[in-house]
Amino acid sequence: MRENDPLAAFWMPFTANRAYKAHPRQLAAAKDMYYWDVAGNRILDGTSGLWCSNAGHCRAPIVNAISKTAASMDFGPTFQLGHPLAFELASRVAELMPDGLDRIFFTNSGSESVDTALKIALAAQRARGQGTRTRLIGRERGYHGTGFGGISVGGIVNNRRWWQGLPGVDHLPHTHDLSRNAFSKGFPQHGAELADDLERLVALHGAETIAAVIVEPMAGSTGVLIPPVGYLQRLRDICTKHGIILIFDEVITAYGRVGGATASGTWGVTPDIITMAKGLTNAAVPMGAVAVHHSIHDDVVNNAADGIELFHGYTYSGHPVACAAGIATLDLYRDEGLFQKAEELGSYWADAAHSLKGKAHVIDIRTIGLVAGIELEPRAGAPTKRATELFHACFDNGLLVRATGDILALSPPLIMEKSHIDEMFGKLGDLLATIA
Ligand SMILES: Cc1ncc(COP(=O)(O)O)c(C=O)c1O
Repeated sequence: MRENDPLAAFWMPFTANRAYKAHPRQLAAAKDMYYWDVAGNRILDGTSGLWCSNAGHCRAPIVNAISKTAASMDFGPTFQLGHPLAFELASRVAELMPDGLDRIFFTNSGSESVDTALKIALAAQRARGQGTRTRLIGRERGYHGTGFGGISVGGIVNNRRWWQGLPGVDHLPHTHDLSRNAFSKGFPQHGAELADDLERLVALHGAETIAAVIVEPMAGSTGVLIPPVGYLQRLRDICTKHGIILIFDEVITAYGRVGGATASGTWGVTPDIITMAKGLTNAAVPMGAVAVHHSIHDDVVNNAADGIELFHGYTYSGHPVACAAGIATLDLYRDEGLFQKAEELGSYWADAAHSLKGKAHVIDIRTIGLVAGIELEPRAGAPTKRATELFHACFDNGLLVRATGDILALSPPLIMEKSHIDEMFGKLGDLLATIA
């Protein structure tokens, strides 16, 4: 080590490292709705960690399942072998997916789930004799993690600027439209026609070159962009018409965030493939998964020559400790009715969030399920600074929120009560007034 600085070695992800290390804020413990920092201050978790601890923190059944499994079989490969927990979790996940999406491929993260889904889509088209279909379509302001596949189909300029992505990728326009949809509760009214842009891409490139379209049903990381009424169904219809595989990236929306196990199921639009991660294990152990329609699985697997059908997988696909965490998590979601929470608390949540309308700097509030996006007017000449300052002020006052650009996103654990909602929006309302 060159210097005697305990913070020097960890090159932090998606972090302004210099600013952080000048003013570190470190978490030390977590339980249910709260974190504690290293100084012992309690912080209400308004973001489920990073959209992932949906059942709250350090839940005993998950902790116990992890420690029991780590002590009995810490690791077991799933290449040409297997173990019962992986098969059990796959069946449990399949039961929660929309009809037909009942073949489950395990990964370790959302990024890996996205790359896996894109590869499966390409493999399926090839297996169907549609090998000219190699083009992938994403959407502006989409976030699909940080693999080369994910940054290629994703639509965040800073994720793409530095690295050349995959060739042959195109993008749909994003659906964010403040001029027509500001201060929407639930699905915004305007913008279903933006899905028709897929017809334009089909006309431009030829359907026979397009393998798959991937979108987040609700774009989370770029600031809670909720799909307009009818938009997802239109995308579904156009994909079906042209033989394009539709992938919903549900890394954020799966496992109760907008109600139900998936946004697809809750909103009644079924893609061909769903990616997930985060809430699958309540984030207690890293894990992701891809739910694939059995017709796609069968095309790939049954058309293959003897031997390995899909040349893809990770050492830790179906890791026993992650599977144990996943099974315990799904039990908790079921036993505590956490997928119903969006329905039960949704209108209280939305009213509380929208009560910030009229506060300083707020130019939009959007809510769906148990998510809220609060968009601030960017400070002239210093975009993102205002939201970053508010994020820091919230943390220093005992509230964790997520700042993305000039948008604050809230997505607390689904075990929250009305008093937590009051505390979150009460604090935010007060702190907005303190920010220049
Ligand atoms: C929709 C979506 N896809 C993919 C990812 C990437 O997941 P991970 O950070 O686990 O790789 C995220 C992360 O927030 C996400 O929101």
